Amino acid sequence: MIKDSVKALLSSTDYNRPVEVKGWVRTKRGSKEVAFIAINDGSTIHNIQAVVSIASFPEEVLKNVNTGACVCIKGTLVQSQGKGQTVEIQAESMEIYGTADETFPLQKKGHTLEFLREIAHLRPRTNTFGAVFRVRHAMAYAIHKYFNDNGFFYIHTPIITGSDAEGAGQMFRVTTLDMKNPPKGADGAIDYTEDFFGKETNLTVSGQLEGELFAMALSKIYTFGPTFRAENSNTPRHLAEFWMIEPEMAFYDVNDNMDLAEDFLKYLVKYALDNCKDDIDFLCNMYDKELLNKLNMVVSKAFKRITYTQAIEDLKNSGKKFEFAAEWGADLQKEHENYLVEMFGAPVMVTGYPKEIKAFYMKLNEDGKTVRGMDVLFPYVGEMIGGSQREENYDTLVVRMKEMHIPEKDMQWYLDTRRFGTAPHSGFGLGFERLILFVTGMTNIRDVVPFPRTPKNAEF
Ligand code: 4AD
Ligand code: MG
Repeated sequence: MIKDSVKALLSSTDYNRPVEVKGWVRTKRGSKEVAFIAINDGSTIHNIQAVVSIASFPEEVLKNVNTGACVCIKGTLVQSQGKGQTVEIQAESMEIYGTADETFPLQKKGHTLEFLREIAHLRPRTNTFGAVFRVRHAMAYAIHKYFNDNGFFYIHTPIITGSDAEGAGQMFRVTTLDMKNPPKGADGAIDYTEDFFGKETNLTVSGQLEGELFAMALSKIYTFGPTFRAENSNTPRHLAEFWMIEPEMAFYDVNDNMDLAEDFLKYLVKYALDNCKDDIDFLCNMYDKELLNKLNMVVSKAFKRITYTQAIEDLKNSGKKFEFAAEWGADLQKEHENYLVEMFGAPVMVTGYPKEIKAFYMKLNEDGKTVRGMDVLFPYVGEMIGGSQREENYDTLVVRMKEMHIPEKDMQWYLDTRRFGTAPHSGFGLGFERLILFVTGMTNIRDVVPFPRTPKNAEF
């Protein structure tokens, strides 16, 4: 017996052959004589229809073929007479692997995304989440393909770390100490020399610093792994656990970095358009009628490149009343990012930020005030990418670390790259879920990750 996926069966024109389909029942409808059972196995957004002659099946079997049940149906693949599908299966035998009674929460359609979040263990069985997670897979694959095709090496940077790469202090502690009764030193503070690693350790916020070490050897590398931030940001764009892609390149300046970011994002969006058509059409119909236009805009339009100073000028001259006034020296707010992206009608890349609001490792410009940071701003999502040219000068870097209160003693390994064969280099971080948010047209980041971790929420 040939076992094909629903996707393969639906695109087959090899009619009148015996086939077997296994999957979950989406709907059952019909008359006294025949039942039409729509089956989905997740290989595609589309269902295959099995046509069941009621007289030839025992009542107890058919009665259990309900929404949510898992079945194996054997029969003949035939050209469909009905509307909406080209092929269907004339069922000859049916086995039920698992029944689902009327308490199965996904009866019919029309559940809110909020409700589905509460049953995140079952939501993969909906059309929406099937589509989102097939797109997510395709994007992960395309990321590896892009880098592999362009001579980058994939480096697995550590998840447990002793350093705070961003210097923002938003880390989750990793410890095996008994927190009810921790060992204490003479000064009364917890004695972490007794801890598993003999020091304080945390979950990483970024693989960048370790990535830089490898770029200083393999020239072009990237990381793609989970990162963790204990920031109390309960927004539709923040997760406490998210995946980040971080390329790091020797001999790239900030302009090369922008060229790469633009080419990379265009490639990914084009890949989705070329390879996820059915799912994107579905999401476009259901959630965001403008989705296809937005995706095509990214592929076809040059990203706008401006300096932070120019951005502040544009915001001030906009005549718009922002909740937070745009002032040189302050971080760009969501509303500012939105305005810039709308004004230019394209993704915007901002460089030359005040050094005070960016991480210690960013290369200082000749003005001594701004750094070669680079953020890529997208419609709705806001900051899609954050990156920079890195400070490769040892002395300047040490001064910046002092200014930003980065403990030098923990960072000797990082500083060593600047002591031995230092090189100009650059890199950036792409938030994977923010990419998926944009490509799927979903509006809440909790709906593009299998099991979201957010403040006060680590279910499943
Ligand atoms: O701008 P960030 O903090 O940059 C870094 O971590 C650098 N080490 C990257 C580098 O240069 N190698 O984060 C990078 C991106 C952001 O632009 C955003 O897309 C995403 O990571 N991101 C988040 N995504 C979801 N939830 C959060 N809490 C995020 N914080 C950052
Ligand atoms: Mg950032």
